Amino acid sequence: MNSRVVVEVTRGRPTSDGGGVRLTRLITPQQGLDPFLMLDEFDSSEASDYLAGFPAHPHRGFETVTYMLDGHMLHEDHLGNRGDLKPGAVQWMTAGRGIIHSEMPQQVAGRMRGFQLWINLPGSEKMKPADYRDIDPEDIPEQVFSDASIKVIAGQCQVVGSDALIAGAHGGGATEPLYLDVALSAHASLTLATPKSHRVLAYTFEGAVSIGERVLHQNELAQLSEGNAVCLTAGPIPARVLIIGGKPLREPVVHYGPFVMNTAAEIEQAVRDFRSGHLTA
Ligand code: CO
Repeated sequence: MNSRVVVEVTRGRPTSDGGGVRLTRLITPQQGLDPFLMLDEFDSSEASDYLAGFPAHPHRGFETVTYMLDGHMLHEDHLGNRGDLKPGAVQWMTAGRGIIHSEMPQQVAGRMRGFQLWINLPGSEKMKPADYRDIDPEDIPEQVFSDASIKVIAGQCQVVGSDALIAGAHGGGATEPLYLDVALSAHASLTLATPKSHRVLAYTFEGAVSIGERVLHQNELAQLSEGNAVCLTAGPIPARVLIIGGKPLREPVVHYGPFVMNTAAEIEQAVRDFRSGHLTA
């Protein structure tokens, strides 16, 4: 076993997006964390931070994965999909050649908390038809131990020392994404097998964990070294960590607002298609 170690730790930057939703940007496209483009965390109990929502807007060339922890949002898109995003639910949206959607809060008070991850698509799939999938909380497999539990949103989860191999709610795709929500009791420890081919990130959103010698405090994101396993140990209070992995695409990335393509010419085409009403067809 070759355990991954922490090579860099960053904290997110506060920003706002959509109609003016306050959020924390944990990953930006400029960081080059191929195949990941962006990771946003939203967490507020102040309605004015989220009420504006994300009115109708386009995407082309990548996938978005929204994981709700608290609160209630409604997704609607040009394909006629309506998705109720409730606590514990995931929305897996493949923009492909184009999707136009909105994500609006369905509450006027209370906590709204969750994540949105952008995963790149290879050039050969950027123009494929859009696809949309709602995953209900009860459809996310969970592996439960006496002092830990793992929600397997995407990919395959294998805890070293356990025979079980748990397939996630979402599987496959060019980047073979791994997306785990790991909950650990105080001082609990576990080792996850992670594909050697993958870039792996860890984000502590409750408590603190150690990975190797390094303590990852709450709201810190770690870029991990190469390896085939991640060993997590919680501190003196319970912890929750996202483990996100994916196979790098190693293609040029040109990002402009909601469009992520391989070349500037493809971005110009996306802008023209959107303006002329031809983004999605
Ligand atoms: Co969007």
